[in-house]
Amino acid sequence: MADLTLSPSDSETVPDVADDGVWLTCIECGETHAPFDDVIYTCEECDGLLEARYADAPTFDDFEGRGVWRYSEALPFEEGVTLPEGDTPLHYVPRLEEDIGVRNLRVKHEGMNPTGSFKDRGMTVGVRVAQEVGVGRLACASTGNTSAALAAYGARAGLQTLVLLPAGKVAAGKIAQASLHGARILEVDGNFDSCLDIVQDLAGRGEAYLLNSLNPFRLEGQKTIGFEILERFYEDEGRFPDRIVLPVGNAGNTAALYKAFRELVASGELDESEVPKLTGVQAEGAAPMVEAIEEGLDDTRRWEEVETRATAIRIGNPVNAPKALPGIRHTDGTAVAVSDEQITAAQRDLAEEGVGVEPASAASVAGLRKLREQGEIEADEDVVCLTTGHLLKDPDAAAEAGADPEPVPNDTDEVLAHLQE
Ligand SMILES: Cc1ncc(COP(=O)(O)O)c(C=O)c1O
Ligand SMILES: [Zn+2]
Repeated sequence: MADLTLSPSDSETVPDVADDGVWLTCIECGETHAPFDDVIYTCEECDGLLEARYADAPTFDDFEGRGVWRYSEALPFEEGVTLPEGDTPLHYVPRLEEDIGVRNLRVKHEGMNPTGSFKDRGMTVGVRVAQEVGVGRLACASTGNTSAALAAYGARAGLQTLVLLPAGKVAAGKIAQASLHGARILEVDGNFDSCLDIVQDLAGRGEAYLLNSLNPFRLEGQKTIGFEILERFYEDEGRFPDRIVLPVGNAGNTAALYKAFRELVASGELDESEVPKLTGVQAEGAAPMVEAIEEGLDDTRRWEEVETRATAIRIGNPVNAPKALPGIRHTDGTAVAVSDEQITAAQRDLAEEGVGVEPASAASVAGLRKLREQGEIEADEDVVCLTTGHLLKDPDAAAEAGADPEPVPNDTDEVLAHLQE
């Protein structure tokens, strides 16, 4: 089994299969694989998850430029199909910070990416790899955002895209994006996990290149969220944040952020004691990761029935759990479930600070509030909450959470009278 602790006991030597200092390692059996010779998503020996590995660990000095490709020294290529992505704001939210009661609260708003979610970071790298291995059709299962990002980046690269969505459970903005960017959209009579089963079968049969976060290169792009948070927070505060709170669906970001930290620990840039505590938040109706953390499991139990207003994280079988659970544990983090009402309240809280997010994103703030109230997070902590998608992704949820429009007559005096009512 590959060592997924913060400081692995034996340092890896570059295997023969490496291509320009990049290779894939199975996190279960440790087998190494050539990165771009064949299309593989999981270990050919044991079907375990794969992780990209590099001959050299990155240092902060290696990073130059802006956005995801600023971090090319920590990525498999120098550049990719870009719109461009990354370089998202790390908002100050002073009223919310005071209300929740932590030393510093910052909000990393991934909704400010080109298609409105963090998925763009994964796609810029994933689509570049697709070009390298020379595939014709790209595909993904999606709760919505992945399909929007894949459609846009696929279009940009001039490649065909196919997306499988759970029928009736995808927010309107996301379908509109996938549709306009030219993806072929298949609505499956099942949930996200069933869509992923099918698309994995299609990929296994060579019908399409899979760009879900099971694809290890997607997570390489998403890893840059971690680098950006650390660099920016350090620039502002002269130290790294104590904790990063994030919504969890397939647990890709949890795995990716942990990988960013491990790489910086490996290069000596980050002391183990400085690694932020990864804190995952799920909706109560879809919380297999929380269950696994609470019960000390090595993998999640698949939840067949999942439900939440936060459709982006309506996922019962998080494929990246074997990578993400060690991330939560080895950083001394935790996982918590929140109700849909708590998610909507947090969505309003963020909106009052001018930060517009979709429901899944607000789960991070709802989770922080809950853990703070329970005393599991201390008042002297520096916390970054990740908000993963833009408000306009789910206009229906936003309208429900917000104030209703008021009909008024077409007359200034009557408008004034209405305002004084
Ligand atoms: C808005 C949003 N937040 C969170 C997630 C979950 O992210 P992850 O799969 O990395 O846990 C997704 C995607 O599934 C998403 O679209
Ligand atoms: Zn293996």
